[in-house]
Amino acid sequence: MSDSKISSSAASENTVSGASIMLQEVTKTYPGQKKSAVGGLTLEIPAGSIVMFVGPSGCGKTTTLKMINRLIEPTSGQIVINGEDVTTMNGDELRRRIGYVIQAGGLFPHMTVASNIAMVPKMLGWDKAKINARVDELLELVSLDPELYRDRFPKELSGGQQQRVGVARALAADPPVLLMDEPFGAVDPITRQRLQDELLNIQSEVQKTIVCVTHDFDEAVKLGDWIAIFNEGAQLEQYDSPERILANPASEFVENFIGSGAGLKQLTLTRVNEVDLVDAITTTPGKRASDVLSQLQGSGRKIAVVLDSRGRPLRRMDRRQLSRAEIIEGTYDPDLPVVGEQATLNDALDTMLVASAEYALVTGRRDVFTGIITVQTVMEAIAAANSSMDDHHEAPVGLNSGAINVVDIESEPAESGGEPA
Ligand SMILES: Nc1ncnc2c1ncn2[C@@H]1O[C@H](COP(=O)(O)OP(=O)(O)O)[C@@H](O)[C@H]1O
Ligand SMILES: [Mg+2]
Repeated sequence: MSDSKISSSAASENTVSGASIMLQEVTKTYPGQKKSAVGGLTLEIPAGSIVMFVGPSGCGKTTTLKMINRLIEPTSGQIVINGEDVTTMNGDELRRRIGYVIQAGGLFPHMTVASNIAMVPKMLGWDKAKINARVDELLELVSLDPELYRDRFPKELSGGQQQRVGVARALAADPPVLLMDEPFGAVDPITRQRLQDELLNIQSEVQKTIVCVTHDFDEAVKLGDWIAIFNEGAQLEQYDSPERILANPASEFVENFIGSGAGLKQLTLTRVNEVDLVDAITTTPGKRASDVLSQLQGSGRKIAVVLDSRGRPLRRMDRRQLSRAEIIEGTYDPDLPVVGEQATLNDALDTMLVASAEYALVTGRRDVFTGIITVQTVMEAIAAANSSMDDHHEAPVGLNSGAINVVDIESEPAESGGEPA
């Protein structure tokens, strides 16, 4: 299996290194259960895309996800990755080629961050130098300074940092597929938003195929290229783009599931990088405050943004603070309102509200400062929103055959839901 098609080709920037996944009439019936947890699911997951699984608790999302890396063996059906039927290949071998991220990162507490990340590369027999370089590269990718975090233990990290290490670990051997099960469920809303932004930034660099379970419809809209909405028994209610699901829910079930999310649609569908940002006066630690103040006064702006040596925001200073200071200090303000450029306008508003600010600082790849978004900008964007949607992409295939299999009881094949729109 060493020449398996499920290995990713060298991932250069912005090329798809992900693999296509096809579930073919996959069914899982747990021993002793009458109803199938997953009933005859056929689902196409295009290479390089993010597919979100949503649906009520117990509807079969986790079971479906875990059948892709065969942590759960399907009762029947095939799973095909990049054209290769993986249903019968060695499970351990398969799992080394599929990254898996769970809530709170699932890190081993007795191992350092570096050892956690290095696990799969070690199993694959990489040499030490290559592993060390890879660990540092991945820590950079998930915005953790290798010098600071490499040798720490999980308990010395915040929940968000643990989750980042979990993502780094899953990406270690550059697998073409990443499976995530409610990855951001255990962190607070602002941290969750940052982790989501970061995942999107990472994805724009690595272009994996990502399948992600969530119970948060807004999260599905934000992260997903495609969203699969499941009902009990992993029956597909709808499988389509976020835009089309919001515009045309396929059933009452979907409508109810979307709930209030649809009302402020434009806030969830528009991203910070789609609106015009305001330029900011920036400075760096060590500069003279009076110089920055006069620059600020000349510009009509209210605040100056202090950046570190890599262009990441440290703190903001208003005119009053500047007039009191002599030299710009480099201390980091943890309450700084910051959003990633991949964040939704909804996220941006949340961040502003939490910080009681009428603006938020925007950061791009690797947390580099790119500008300021204001409440005004958000309001204008909603007003000007043209809801024209991109209808060029056909929805991938998704349907159930034979619906829920009920063992020992004669069953009528139910209608297959979720035909492509
Ligand atoms: N190991 C198991 N043994 C028996 N039943 C299970 C097992 N795991 C899950 N189930 C059942 O299968 C159904 C789907 O579960 P799951 O895939 O975990 O749903 P979700 O992730 O959507 O909440 C549920 O009814 C659950 O109780
Ligand atoms: Mg689950």
